[in-house]
Order: sequence, then structure tokens, then C-alpha cells
Amino acid sequence: MLSNLAGDEKRTSLHGHWSSRMAFILAVTGSAVGLGNIWKFPYMAGQNGGGAFVLVYLVCVVVIGMPVMMSEILIGRRGRRNPVATMELLGREEGSSVHWRVVGAMGVLAGILILSYYSMIAGWTLAYIGKSASSSFAGASATAVAAHFGEFVGDWKTVVFWHTIFMSLCVFVVARGVERGLEQAVRFMVPALLILMLVLLGYSISTGFFSQGVAFMFTADFDKLGWGGVLAALGQAFFTLSIGMGAIMAYGAYLPEETSITGSAAAVVTADTSIAILAGLAIFPLVFANGLDPAEGPGLVFQTLPLAFGQMPGGVFFSTIFFVLLAFAAWTSAIGLMEPGVAFIVEQYHRTRAQATIIVGGLIWFIGLGSALSFNVLKDTKFLAGTFFDNVDYLTSNIMLPLGGLLITIFAGWVMCRNSTSDELGGSGSLYSAWRILARFIAPIGILFVLINAVT
Ligand code: TRP
Repeated sequence: MLSNLAGDEKRTSLHGHWSSRMAFILAVTGSAVGLGNIWKFPYMAGQNGGGAFVLVYLVCVVVIGMPVMMSEILIGRRGRRNPVATMELLGREEGSSVHWRVVGAMGVLAGILILSYYSMIAGWTLAYIGKSASSSFAGASATAVAAHFGEFVGDWKTVVFWHTIFMSLCVFVVARGVERGLEQAVRFMVPALLILMLVLLGYSISTGFFSQGVAFMFTADFDKLGWGGVLAALGQAFFTLSIGMGAIMAYGAYLPEETSITGSAAAVVTADTSIAILAGLAIFPLVFANGLDPAEGPGLVFQTLPLAFGQMPGGVFFSTIFFVLLAFAAWTSAIGLMEPGVAFIVEQYHRTRAQATIIVGGLIWFIGLGSALSFNVLKDTKFLAGTFFDNVDYLTSNIMLPLGGLLITIFAGWVMCRNSTSDELGGSGSLYSAWRILARFIAPIGILFVLINAVT
């Protein structure tokens, strides 16, 4: 997918360029659509009372997520290096400071921390492929499915095993270069996932609890949310769009000069948000139909979906396909999480891609052990936000990503001169003006406001 035909561009990337606009959109969609949409969004909405959380999340996606994503792409394309080097280069070029590289470095770190637990959850989906295929859930009751999940995560050896398998898969793909594999995977996976979500939705509607699910998702009761919940919604918007940590910046570095940044960002944001909402609409009716608790937490989809599939005709087949697709979705996201760190080590320390991937992958695997043990051996070891897993999740989603996004918009809106950004975004029309107002004022002020209110 990354061709070496750089054309007559001003600056070229060491790693080549996307072969087409579609290739770029698919890669960014692949990174955005993942466990964040199907695993995390429903349980976060459930834990934060439903409607108000969903509403704040949607507002954050449009007024903060969209301008941050555009800023990341344009910075990436202008610098054409790994996020650390790009921020340093542009900081100097725009007459500011080379210290902007800290933003890139924080992104590299955030990617490593996120993938450390992401890989564990992706491991759960791998394990659930086998469980589905061997019809473990056919006709099972809610209590049986929940007990099965509890037993599964309670066994640290199994969880570590699947975490190891998933990390190995990531290292394997990233070391070989993302090229074709990724494009093919996404081209097939996103539409297939969408179709299966619709099948699930159909089943959800048939349970007779659909309106209760819809009411839970869209009736906003702000008393239940609080500033902590608003921050969680903001963090979820960043997490699900893969923004705030330089991943999209790294992908933007391979974007051809003539591609529209606004159009690409809009396509990705629309696809990602639709899949999240669809997942919520499919899952909440199942929660209510089976008397489960929406605030169940990270185990929510691993309990509702097997249950639903277990009752459905052809459930074994659908369930197996579903977890395969979810694992693929996680895989294409995991690649994006590794890319900033790997590109950084390749460029900065002159390692081969394979060496860099093994170093980064090994580190991520090791940190991930803390999360893998958070559901069994260390489940009662709590500090600050909760278990080790809770802390890594809170630190990355609620602090590092919003902070990264804040600094990225300040950089694009205030440090970069008007000429540089209008050059990248194409012209000075009303779309450009809208972006500039969002990036200079609305997004940074919004993020700061939420961060300050939630922390104090
Ligand atoms: N967006 C991914 C998801 O929803 C997770 C993610 C967060 C990500 N940051 C990223 C993926 C950076 C790739 C790159 O599952």
C-alpha cells in the first residue's frame, strides 16, 4: 500500500506513501474501528448512565475530535517523519521550539501503554473465537455465560497466553511492513463487521427490549454524569478516533499531497461513530432482555453477545465469525498503536523495522502482564483509579490523549502560520475558517475546561 512513488512532492517520507486516498482512509478507519467501538463504548456508556454520556461523546467527536484529527493529519503530512521528529522539525520551521517533540514522545508512550491492555482484551476475543466455534454458548443461560467469563479471566495463565498470541501477531505484521495485508484486511473487515452488527441489531429488536435500549442510550440525565463522566466521554472520543497520540500523524506522513484532509477525516469519523452507535443499539436491548447490569464493566460484550448468539438460529456460526471480525478489528488498530513507536526507533536509532518491532512489542507485552493479572491474581490490588488495568486506562484515555489533543490543536492553530495550514487543508474557504476557529478556540478551550473541572 505504501508505494515509493513520491512524485514531485516537497518532502517525502522515508517509509513511502499510500497508494491512494482510499488506502489512507481504509488505514485510518482500520485504526479507528476496533475494540473501542464494540467493547469499550457500550460498557463506558453503561457505567456512566447512558444517554448523557452518549450525547457528550457525540458532541466531543464533532467539535473536538474532527478538528484534532485534521490537525494531526496536516501536521503529519507537513513533517513526513515519525511524530517525535515531525513535531521537532515543524516547531523549528514555524519559528517556535524544538521542544514540541515532547508531544510526539508522549504519543509514542501513550500508544505503548494503550496497546499493553488492548492486547489483553484482543486476546480475550481470540479465546472467544474458539469458545464460539465449539458451541460453548449454545442455549446457555445468562448466569452460565457470566460464570464462564468469570472463570476465563480468573485464570491468569490463559489470559497471559492469549495476550502473548495477540502481541506475536502484531509483531509479525508490523515487522513485515503494514503494506498490503492491512489494506486487504480493512477492505473486507469493516463492511463485514457492519453486516454482522446489523444481524445482531435485528436479533436485539426481536427481543422486545429494543425501545428500552434506545431509551437508555438516548435519554440524557446529566445528574448521573458529573464532570468525571464528561471527561470519560471526551477520553472515549479520543480513544475511538485514535487521536491525541500521533498515530494519525504517523499515517498522515504517508499521505500524498493532493488528497483532501477534510474529506478523509469526515469519512473516518462518520464510519467510526456509526459503528459505535450501532454496537450500543445492538447491545443494550440484550442487557435489559437478560436482566444484566449495563454498568457491568469490561466484561459486558463478552457476556451479552455470546448469550444473544446462543439463542439465535445459526448462532454458533455467527458468533464465531463475529469474534473473528472483532479480532481483526483489534489487530488493525493494534498496528496503528505500534506504528509511532516503531517509526521512532527506526528513524532515531537506525534499527531495522524488524528489530524496532521486536523491541517495542516486547516492552508492550511486559507492561501488559500488569493488566492481564488485574483480573485475577492482582484483582484486589487497587490504587488511585483502581486496578493496574484501571490506572493505565484512566491515565491514557482521560489524561494523555486529551492532553496530546490539546497540544496538537494549539500547535496547529496557534504555532503554525496561516499559510502552512491553509496550504495543507487546501485554500481559505469557509471549511478552512471553520477548522481554524475550532482548532484555535473551541477544541483547546473545551478540552481544558473538561480537564480542569474533572480534576478539581
Ligand atoms: N481507536 C482504537 C479503537 O477504537 C484504539 C486506539 C486508540 C488506536 N488510539 C489509537 C488505534 C491509535 C490505533 C492508533 O479500538
